[in-house]
Amino acid sequence: MIIAVIGKGGVGKTTVTALLLRRLLDSKITPILAIDADPSSCLGSMLGVPVAETLGRLRDSLRDDPNRPASLSKSEWLSLMAEEAIVERNGFDLLTMGHPEGEGCYCFVNNLLRDYLDRLARSYRLALVDCEAGQEHISRRTARRPDRLVCVTNRSRMGAETIRRSLALYEGLHGKLPARVDLVLNGFEPDEPLAKEMAGTAAGGVFIFAQRYIVPIDPEVSICESIGRSLLELDRETPALQALRGLEQEQ
Ligand SMILES: Nc1ncnc2c1ncn2[C@@H]1O[C@H](COP(=O)(O)OP(=O)(O)OP(=O)(O)O)[C@@H](O)[C@H]1O
Ligand SMILES: [Mg+2]
Repeated sequence: MIIAVIGKGGVGKTTVTALLLRRLLDSKITPILAIDADPSSCLGSMLGVPVAETLGRLRDSLRDDPNRPASLSKSEWLSLMAEEAIVERNGFDLLTMGHPEGEGCYCFVNNLLRDYLDRLARSYRLALVDCEAGQEHISRRTARRPDRLVCVTNRSRMGAETIRRSLALYEGLHGKLPARVDLVLNGFEPDEPLAKEMAGTAAGGVFIFAQRYIVPIDPEVSICESIGRSLLELDRETPALQALRGLEQEQ
């Protein structure tokens, strides 16, 4: 099972990914592979997990390949090297993708990478992906298509519009939407008419979302960010965590 958290830049994707991870860990839905697929790599910092190596850097060295032992194929080499971009924690591992490919042809390396990620993800109960902002990740085929989408928007109209476009793109590429699509309205008060309006825009007038979650602006989340504390250490009763109750459920 692959869950992808998607949305426009700055709407709260990484925050929601971290909060969802926390809910999954609390519910013992483990082991989880958390993937930071955003080139700006913020998930590690929100989780309080130091990241030393990224798959992007490894991809470059694999392409240039100066030190690959002759006894190893590129695929074996990649699996071995990629372990350096994975940090193990209690109940989850964090894999940081890092920067995207630079100039030149990366098709071969990207194919290796996709196979590797497919194999890797299968050894976890679920993979949770904090995606790059926008819609591009949906058309880039470096990872298997997600089985579940968690769409995040804030109060900006473009946030809701980005979701609508992303879902249309996904449907165009794969013929249908994934089995479950949830909507997270971040930074709203419950029963706020604007939240309803945004949900309508994001859905494009069609009944799409399995569930809507309204997450308030939460000072505890802001404090964690300003002092560099992990969102995994939030009090269980913290409003933002409570607001996502149920999102962790597998059905
Ligand atoms: N519910 C919330 N309460 C308080 N602060 C929040 C909340 N949601 C997000 N933030 C803050 O808003 C900022 C942007 O959030 P975040 O980094 O999660 O967005 P993003 O969508 O991942 O951004 P990017 O597209 O740059 O990756 C962060 O400083 C985060 O701490
Ligand atoms: Mg982010």
